[in-house]
Amino acid sequence: MTTDSQALSDRERNAERLLRTSAKHSYDPMTEIDWSAPIDPDQFALPPHRVTLYGTELWRQLTPRQQAELSTRQLAGTMTAGIWFEILLMNGLIRHVYGQDLTTRHAQYALTEVADECRHSTMFAEYIRKTGYPTARPSRRADLRGRFYLQLNDITLTLAGAIFVEEFTDAMQREMMRDESLQPLARATARIHVVEEARHIGFAKPELARRWGRMTPARRALFRRVLAFLASEAVRECVHPRIYTLTGLDAVAAKRAARDNPHWQQARVDWARKAVDYFTDLGIIDASTAPAWRRAHLLR
Ligand SMILES: [Fe+2]
Ligand SMILES: [Fe+2]
Repeated sequence: MTTDSQALSDRERNAERLLRTSAKHSYDPMTEIDWSAPIDPDQFALPPHRVTLYGTELWRQLTPRQQAELSTRQLAGTMTAGIWFEILLMNGLIRHVYGQDLTTRHAQYALTEVADECRHSTMFAEYIRKTGYPTARPSRRADLRGRFYLQLNDITLTLAGAIFVEEFTDAMQREMMRDESLQPLARATARIHVVEEARHIGFAKPELARRWGRMTPARRALFRRVLAFLASEAVRECVHPRIYTLTGLDAVAAKRAARDNPHWQQARVDWARKAVDYFTDLGIIDASTAPAWRRAHLLR
């Protein structure tokens, strides 16, 4: 067997395993989660030290209830970014499947992942609606970048972007699962997402490695840059300035305070760590692009 056909049969085996675990552990958030339970306005949605303003002067000026409210706004805003990304990912997977044979496990799993993401986006939207966050639309900036990205129609980039976003949210949501003082509703969404995203990461990683291995040096150089840009845009989209105005803060002052906040910088580095380590091992982050990752506070 050639190396490539070996890799393709490994790919089938991996997809077969992922299809089996999907059949066993898939959740319908609309029935799994008790959406009718009221949200306690004094409970945080995120661990306090992971809220963008934690530890700043502005943070000290907020009442404990406002701090909790800001955490809920931040989570809702992050979910809005999550929906934006999941819909781009679903687009990428559907286009990928269009060129595949659906009798392969690989293509079947790709469709199963789309089904997972459909449920996730609906779940996030329901949380957003329930908390009174005004919209699940991306910012105009992200919307334009998303439209450009769809034009690229590059499944390898889609897989790498998915690994980044999935590892980043996985790290955040695992912290939410562990912290029993947080809102039960927020924790319930985290639990479902963590279980199902583990499979997506298991699908994307070997496929990205296989595709990266076949890339020319020139294409790799471009890919490194585009991925660094995509990661920094995705993280930026997680914090919309409206989260501050909704909490009664001046958005400009709050944005500045968050930008300079070492706690918030640390949160992003911590949440990005697994993806960054993985990309560094593969050579997708190297000396030429590490500074861009550092500027985005995704690498120390
Ligand atoms: Fe998801
Ligand atoms: Fe996913």
